Amino acid sequence: MMVDEPVHYLDYAATAPILPDVREAMLPYLAERYGNPSSIYATGREARKGVDEAREKLALAIGASPEEIVFTGGGTEAGNIAVKGVAWANAERGKHILLPKIEHHAVLDSAEWLAKIGFEIGFLKVDRGGLVSPDDVAAKLRDDTTLVCVMLANNEIGTIEPVAEIATICRERGVTTFTDAVQALGKIHVDVKALGVDLAAFSAHKIGGPKGTGALYVRRGVRLVPHTHGGGQERGRRSGTENPAGVVGFATAAEIVTGELETEPLRWTTLRDRLRDALLRLPDVQLNGHPTDRLPHNLNISVKGVVGEDVLLMLDAKGICASTGSACQSGSVEPSYVLKACGVENKWAEGALRLTVGRSTTDADVDAVLTELPPIIERLRSYKR
Ligand SMILES: Cc1ncc(COP(=O)(O)O)c(C=O)c1O
Repeated sequence: MMVDEPVHYLDYAATAPILPDVREAMLPYLAERYGNPSSIYATGREARKGVDEAREKLALAIGASPEEIVFTGGGTEAGNIAVKGVAWANAERGKHILLPKIEHHAVLDSAEWLAKIGFEIGFLKVDRGGLVSPDDVAAKLRDDTTLVCVMLANNEIGTIEPVAEIATICRERGVTTFTDAVQALGKIHVDVKALGVDLAAFSAHKIGGPKGTGALYVRRGVRLVPHTHGGGQERGRRSGTENPAGVVGFATAAEIVTGELETEPLRWTTLRDRLRDALLRLPDVQLNGHPTDRLPHNLNISVKGVVGEDVLLMLDAKGICASTGSACQSGSVEPSYVLKACGVENKWAEGALRLTVGRSTTDADVDAVLTELPPIIERLRSYKR
């Protein structure tokens, strides 16, 4: 495909294009305000001011206090700091951690690594729609449980978890709760105090900010052992020279998307539902994830009799960017571990397709999918007959 052909970008859960105002806000920090925020002269002080203001803005967007924000190099790093940091800080009290198998790899793999060094991981059940049950959390908490991780919204199927209820149960038992809110920010209202969680992870590039920038909310008083040591930046929780351009871009994006929560998600839902209704009318197509408790921009379907990656390649040839939701590892195409955890059979899971709309999506993009996708499915199915 030529680069100047129109692209129908329907993969907002993977990443979002940088918002023009975000780029504008970042540029001075890539030019004249290049100083190290720890330096005392003017350009350093300007960089420090940018970081401080970004912290205040992000805190406001998520209902936290500025000193509860730890800027990180993205959502993955925030998840790693949370899971390992809380586990280590509480290791003398207990080594049991609970989480569902549908967590992002940032969390799952951190927990699996902890399991190799003596921690015990318990898995929370999820139903067919991907929902964790607060009752299951209550039943599985033990005296040596120190951490419960439940993501606020799943990246593949968009299911929104009952995190506030889970956090209440954990708080009563003195157990720390961490939520990966990377996919939720800017899509639904996220207020860390209302959720009652102790830690929450965020990522800039999912909301129109720069890649490689994120944040961890750490409620005041939470015990956390840092995993990077050095200059003591971010209150010693994440050493390393701050990224003024990145965090300024992140905070600007957070301010914009949270300011649009009353309007944009409604528009996405209309676009998403049009896609959903038309695609579910095709034979042997089913919805993945929860029918109602899901992010407003997420559609995940399974098309029986095709392999999701084949569909993606053919959509790409038509200028349509989508995803299967699952990662291809070492050349082999494994059905999504999230769908597997939800009990979706392989014959359906291998034909998964995720379409996530966003700020730039219009009816023309939906029309393009509805024109191109049905014949692609038909063609791929005909090869198998
Ligand atoms: C739910 C979830 N958590 C964590 C991450 C990782 O964020 P980042 O890409 O900033 O490392 C992602 C991104 O794919 C995500 O969707």
